[in-house]
Amino acid sequence: MGTLDGKVALVTGSGRGIGQAIALKLASQGARIVINDLDADPANETVELLRKLGTDAVACVGNVSAPDFAERFIKTAVDNYKGIDIIVNNAGFTWDDVVQRMTDEQWYGILDCHLTAPFRILRAAYPVIKAQAIADQEKGVANYRKVVNISSTSALNGNAGQMNYSSAKAGVIGMTRALSREWGRFNVNVNAVAFGLIHTRMTNADAKAGATVNIEGKEIRVGLNPELLKSHAARNPLGRGGTPEEAAGAVYLFCTPESNYITGQVVAVAGSPQ
Ligand SMILES: NC(=O)c1ccc[n+]([C@@H]2O[C@H](COP(=O)([O-])OP(=O)(O)OC[C@H]3O[C@@H](n4cnc5c(N)ncnc54)[C@H](O)[C@@H]3O)[C@@H](O)[C@H]2O)c1
Repeated sequence: MGTLDGKVALVTGSGRGIGQAIALKLASQGARIVINDLDADPANETVELLRKLGTDAVACVGNVSAPDFAERFIKTAVDNYKGIDIIVNNAGFTWDDVVQRMTDEQWYGILDCHLTAPFRILRAAYPVIKAQAIADQEKGVANYRKVVNISSTSALNGNAGQMNYSSAKAGVIGMTRALSREWGRFNVNVNAVAFGLIHTRMTNADAKAGATVNIEGKEIRVGLNPELLKSHAARNPLGRGGTPEEAAGAVYLFCTPESNYITGQVVAVAGSPQ
């Protein structure tokens, strides 16, 4: 018996990194998962991984920033699993530059992915969430559903070179608080997790060596300078960055019945106070 037996969880950006770890964690507790990533290969790899572990999973491949993505994503869950219990807005990338060099494309690219896409997904989920809540009320049962939005300590503290990302991730916190007030009546807990440095390709790649990731055919600089990684570890109270599994653990806390009376909150998962 898992704490999430029979639940349906949607996780964006779950082809690798923290999103994949979240999918594995929720699945380990019995959830069925709708996987998403930009490209089919990483998305299908996670689906295969989950199926090998005995989990029911399906992929909805595509860019979360595409205007039609949200409707497709929600439809995939409803068509395959007849409902939605957990939504984790995780997909994302960074596209850093100092303000004087940041283009409109960089600004909107990051805002679209981290802020507008979660908004559209939650808007598209509304009719399903509402219908489920009404059905629960008619049956006299209280089923709590969960939204977990991924933010960053860059939103809490600001980060030089990340005006776009800090702003988008701060917007995620505002969105979380506003929606928690709208969806409380549907028994939906809406919370956010703000990660500090977590070891994934986003942070492990060697920026000094010119590491890039490909986002929709565009090579985008990624990673940190190795010296920065070292100095982060030296300054961090726990003496290290986090693992994707530790990051996923925090998201899981907000998906359990134990968090049914917690909503509109932001928890920093950074190995340090913020
Ligand atoms: N790693 C960190 O230190 C850190 C810190 C704070 C916040 N975060 C946030 O955690 C989340 C996950 O990051 P990660 O470290 O696992 O990165 P990652 O690069 O390892 O994984 C992110 C995944 O999201 C996918 N993705 C990116 N843009 C997408 C889009 N537009 N549509 C669909 N999929 C997309 C990528 O292909 C990738 O598989 C992001 O929202 C990131 O901003 C990470």
